[in-house]
Amino acid sequence: MRLRLLTAVLALAAMVMAGPLAAKPIIIKFSHVVAENTPKGQMANKFKELVDQRLAGKVEVEVYPNSQLFGDNKVLEAMLLGDVQMAAPSLSKFKRYTKKLQLFDLPFLFKDMTAVERFQKSPAGQQLLDSVNRKGLVGLGYLHNGMKQLSASRPLRVPADAKNLKFRIMSSDVLAAQFEAVGGVPLKKPFSEVFTLLQTKAIDGQENTWSNIYSKKFYEVQPYITESNHGLLDYMVVTSREFWMGLPDDVRAEVKKALDEAIAFGNQVAAEKAVADKQKIIDSGRSEVIELTPAERAQWVAVMKPVWKKFEGQIGRDLIDAAYNANK
Ligand code: LMR
Repeated sequence: MRLRLLTAVLALAAMVMAGPLAAKPIIIKFSHVVAENTPKGQMANKFKELVDQRLAGKVEVEVYPNSQLFGDNKVLEAMLLGDVQMAAPSLSKFKRYTKKLQLFDLPFLFKDMTAVERFQKSPAGQQLLDSVNRKGLVGLGYLHNGMKQLSASRPLRVPADAKNLKFRIMSSDVLAAQFEAVGGVPLKKPFSEVFTLLQTKAIDGQENTWSNIYSKKFYEVQPYITESNHGLLDYMVVTSREFWMGLPDDVRAEVKKALDEAIAFGNQVAAEKAVADKQKIIDSGRSEVIELTPAERAQWVAVMKPVWKKFEGQIGRDLIDAAYNANK
């Protein structure tokens, strides 16, 4: 009897001692569509590294790059279902969650990344992070990629050169209107399909940043890239409210700190890659990089900028003005 009691007490003690050790870590699945050697890929890996260091045993980050887990069009739905906890879709992919973020797709809105940064840090820019709240998402921060360039099967110097060409776009109505304005045919397609669509000539062109054009080898199947800097490709790092508010307060604070540091790192990578990946493309000799003269650029601006008016009602004139004023 005594032995049995002793065994039971020892078993209980072992359970109590093993309890905290055996507690399973909280898993954060971070899903994205780009390659690992991109600003977003590097940011996600840095986030994992910091969380591993600081929250070992409590939180584990699993990064799924290259649309391995979810593509663009599914990831936010999956997040609300709890199948993935973090992602950083481009600001062009939130149409079903808010119309306000269409702001960032307006062509020739920001003159450079300094203006983007200035606007995003302003009260108006910060408030936009909350625009996805109503739908159960939490905007945790902006992450840069950079300015977009136009690639095509023929040289694009003036808008008339784009006439009747099929361009892959992200799922944004602003981007559709932008290509319609130059007489092109916009097709909304997931990022994971772009290379094959270009290679098989199912489409003629696309718009993207230097790092995406380089890391996904679009330059190998697009003989011309026009350095247009006509638009922005940036991201919002998001999670679901259910997941985020379910984290213990101290853990949430640590995760957010790690994320902010990873974003700062990712932004640095973005600035470097905008220069280095462009140079790698030039050095490859596979694609000719076309620089526009001021007069040619002015033509693109004149044709594309009227798109702003079309979306003013959905975005809000005040917001457009606030973003535009960040250029000064
Ligand atoms: C695209 O679809 O072209 C980009 O949003 C991909 C990305 O996440 O950078």
